[in-house]
Amino acid sequence: MLRLKLNTLLGKQSLHKILRSLTVLGIETSCDDTGAAIVDDTGQVLAQEIHSQQQMTIRLGGVIPPIARRLHEENIERVVTATIESSNIPVEQLDGIACTVKPGMPLSLLVGLKYARELVRRAKNVPFLPVHHMQAHALTVRMVDRVAFPFLVFLLSGGHCLLAIVKDVEDFMLLGESIDTSPGEAYDKVARRLKLKNLPECDGMSGGESVERVARRGDPHKFVDRYPATMSKYRDCNFSFSGMKTTTMRLIEREEEKHGIVGDGILPNVCDVAAAFQLSVGRHLLKRLQRCLVFIDYNDLLPKHNRTLVLSGGVACNSFIRQVIGQLCDHHEYDLVCPPPQLCTDNGVMVAWNGMEKLKVGKGIASDPELVDIEPKCSIGPSMIRKVQEANIQVPRFKIDLTKFS
Ligand code: KG4
Ligand code: ZN
Repeated sequence: MLRLKLNTLLGKQSLHKILRSLTVLGIETSCDDTGAAIVDDTGQVLAQEIHSQQQMTIRLGGVIPPIARRLHEENIERVVTATIESSNIPVEQLDGIACTVKPGMPLSLLVGLKYARELVRRAKNVPFLPVHHMQAHALTVRMVDRVAFPFLVFLLSGGHCLLAIVKDVEDFMLLGESIDTSPGEAYDKVARRLKLKNLPECDGMSGGESVERVARRGDPHKFVDRYPATMSKYRDCNFSFSGMKTTTMRLIEREEEKHGIVGDGILPNVCDVAAAFQLSVGRHLLKRLQRCLVFIDYNDLLPKHNRTLVLSGGVACNSFIRQVIGQLCDHHEYDLVCPPPQLCTDNGVMVAWNGMEKLKVGKGIASDPELVDIEPKCSIGPSMIRKVQEANIQVPRFKIDLTKFS
């Protein structure tokens, strides 16, 4: 209340200086969102702006790198300037400028980095904080929840699928990752093939959101048996989604033929197909996660009595997936923590907060911003995948209880 009154009297900028809170600007352009935000050290978002290319991506059927670059170039100035203006904090008074530099689409990353470098030059002594996109996804939860290190993070997005132990702000250990495509990409392809954008109820939604939406009314058991078990011979925590995608494409083709669907027409049993695809994604995620939890136990990678799984990334907005993973967490006595959906997807906030985390511990500040370059491919941290494979862990079948779903 007092903060609110002072805010009104003094304006956000002076209040922050009086209370001596740190402020960091974050810039995100790794894929198809141009995002900027300013956060303080308590996790308060002081300002944020985003320009999403989602509608263009849906129309084109995917992100086309030169088009994404052009749209970033057209929007970055407006997005960043509006963020700074709305925070009322002059750029020279910021305590840090953070920008995603890895991993991501090279042409997109470069737009953000070039702009951030120019801003750092203008702001003179403001530290520059290069950010790893996936590390940023992993830490956003700490803006809203007191999740202490170490914890397990499960990142499900349009570009990635990975499991990692987060030991510290910059200390990550990779336990599993996708060997082909990402779950978000699979959701998007299935949504496109089911022509969900033609349904008014899916208007403006991402592919993943629309599949989740229609799957709610479907019966997964009508088709789920058509999906063969994925990677059952590989005793590791890696993932694969391309088989599931192909199975779904074939299923849709056969069903369309059977029902005489042509052109823009939509299958009468679209909900059952979406539900079966979604259940098969859930089963796969669960199986691999199950092995990961056993591996963590065997190797004492997390404290026995205080174990947390953080689920984040765009696909973690999916409430079916959250509930499936929640059931396994209950069984293994893990606390499942999911950031609110607006913090799961790509935005400037996650980048600003990652910069803030680095600044607070004095790590990851670039000594010369001009020497910082993009890294389109970059692991979240050292890999333990070989060790997981060598452990050769067999896990019992865990049955998802669909009757408990809300
Ligand atoms: O993390 P994100 O915003 O961007 C990347 O870093 O990729 O994730 C975007 C992905 C898209 O593929 C989108 O379809 C998917 O997240 N997504 C969902 C849901 N909401 C967004 N997938 C499944 N269910 C959802 N509710
Ligand atoms: Zn992302």
